[in-house]
Amino acid sequence: MPRRVCCYGRWGWREMFTLTEGTGNQRAAVRTWLAGLDAVSPETAERIITAWVTTWTSSLYAALEDIPFSANAPGYPLMRHINEVTEAGRALMPRAVQDWGSAIDPEIMLPILILHDVDKPLLSSRDAAGMVQKTPLAKRMPHGVVGAMLLRDLGFPQQVIETVATHATDAPFHGDTAEAHILHYADLFAADHALRSQGAVPFYRR
Ligand SMILES: [Fe+2]
Ligand SMILES: [Fe+2]
Repeated sequence: MPRRVCCYGRWGWREMFTLTEGTGNQRAAVRTWLAGLDAVSPETAERIITAWVTTWTSSLYAALEDIPFSANAPGYPLMRHINEVTEAGRALMPRAVQDWGSAIDPEIMLPILILHDVDKPLLSSRDAAGMVQKTPLAKRMPHGVVGAMLLRDLGFPQQVIETVATHATDAPFHGDTAEAHILHYADLFAADHALRSQGAVPFYRR
């Protein structure tokens, strides 16, 4: 039975998202899309799928493919950005191990990469002309924090919750961990590709 979670959402000051495992088809769509599920335990993979099904089905987007990376790159699918971040992060993990001597736990790192933008479906919508705009929730709650609240509801480790909560470029600070460091550069590497490909100014040129 899906559980209602208070307080903000597309209907106003009521719900932010509704936790749900979704249908078999919805879970299959998310499973087929996401890179990196093979690098975590089956239990973690299922929890990651539930997180994405929850924000997708709580959003105003009918199809995963309709969800944009951002208002600055409305033609770039969030689906593509997520997998680019996951793959860039996976490429950086062995470098962090060898160059920094850091031990990187895939059960922490992969959920951070795959779920860092899990709240984005809730933070934008498209009008009839296809233009992307912020939802009322996006004007009341910061990107990252909404996702972190969902991940806490789903029982993810505290480091995953905190890293997602503070990952946004405009967050007041970022975590002092190898995992937050890897996410930051994987995310900006992928984000700048999305921005450049859409004719927007990438972060590295600002
Ligand atoms: Fe983000
Ligand atoms: Fe991102």
